[in-house]
Amino acid sequence: MGFLTGKQIILGITGSIAAYKAAELVRLLVKSGTRTRVVMTQGAQAFITPMTLQALSGNPVHTTILDEQAEAGMGHIELARWADTVVVAPASANFLARLAHGMADDLLSTLCLTTDAPIMVAPAMNQRMWINRQTQLNISHLGQSGITIMGPASGNQACGDIGPGRMLESDELASIIDNSFARHTLAGLKIIITAGGTREAIDTIRYIGNRSSGKMGFALANAAREAGAEVTLICGPVNLDTPSGVSRIDVETAKQMRQAVLNQISSHHILIGSAAVADYVPTAPYEGKIKKTCDNLSIELSPSIDIMQEVGQLQDKPFTVGFAAETENMDVYARDKMQRKNMDMIAANIVGLPDRGFEVDENAVDVYWSNGQKTLPLASKTKIARQLIALIGDRYRADTSRQIIA
Ligand code: PMT
Repeated sequence: MGFLTGKQIILGITGSIAAYKAAELVRLLVKSGTRTRVVMTQGAQAFITPMTLQALSGNPVHTTILDEQAEAGMGHIELARWADTVVVAPASANFLARLAHGMADDLLSTLCLTTDAPIMVAPAMNQRMWINRQTQLNISHLGQSGITIMGPASGNQACGDIGPGRMLESDELASIIDNSFARHTLAGLKIIITAGGTREAIDTIRYIGNRSSGKMGFALANAAREAGAEVTLICGPVNLDTPSGVSRIDVETAKQMRQAVLNQISSHHILIGSAAVADYVPTAPYEGKIKKTCDNLSIELSPSIDIMQEVGQLQDKPFTVGFAAETENMDVYARDKMQRKNMDMIAANIVGLPDRGFEVDENAVDVYWSNGQKTLPLASKTKIARQLIALIGDRYRADTSRQIIA
């Protein structure tokens, strides 16, 4: 998470057994640097006490619209204006129905009717109530009104049923709320991201490959999509699902990756090269299977074409962001690669450690550009990707020779 710092969030809690998860959500939101104020319906107070939420949020909890003291301090109009986002989690079937019909008969519903801030709801109810036609009509109506519906998840329910209607876990909700602030910083831009490793044939069944899992590149594709970009992901053989809304082109070799990039590049504004592309490839791959007939076997390798370098030489080159995978002297090698390949930015990571780089879910990068540098400390690849995409957006806009074409 990286977009919540300083954001003002109203968390509405309605009557559902999932209200206990709201306590953890408040904790996560506050930990992420938000200022959070809690509004509870009467039903919510049957499941969790205002005192708990007050302690976790560090703010008084708002429970009634007819509270003279509250109205004199932060009344429902001030609350509605104060919020950057209103989140209702859990949102009961009853609350969703009242919201869909514009009711304003308690503090939370009145606030939702008054606010200009985006509203996000996390439904929580019995699976039969969720699949009920009227609930589905209400949900569809809320979605069409621009309200974000988060979940629900499917699984075991408190009442013993199994099915859809479980509120999403608090960390999933915090992540979705975080993403909502990341949106649209790259709207109007088309981005190519290369990901994963290439495979270079030694013979018909064997290849030279590397440890890249594609996780870093896929996280970048997801983050760029969240930020509003149109994303083309060109990837080597990986075992990952395509992020939603992203176009994917699968390749195997460095040569195929180069061709796929060159086919697409003229219509794109930014190229991010996170793929681990083979530097050397077998000069003459053997047709068939090499037999085990001798004690020593040598394979001759030739340099492959450097995709980032070639794109860097194009007359109408896009904004290019490379990666540098290093085991030592990271800053020196990374800056040298950026210069040699005529890149606008480079994200350097140390590889060979167990907690970052290849294959694992976390990474840490130092990002360099011509007159600046930023360290993104060890975090999940999801978080690093979001931070890096935000930085790329800033640098792209700072490059006065480029414009965002809407
Ligand atoms: O996929 P994961 O398991 O999540 O791991 C992520 C990662 C460690 C692979 C990723 O963060 C990373 O560092 N990617 C770049 C790996 C690499 O090949 O670095 P390099 O220093 O060898 O290459 C420098 C740049 O030139 C890279 O942008 C690379 O894509 C590009 N290159 C390299 C060789 C080549 N023939 N063509 C290229 O375009």
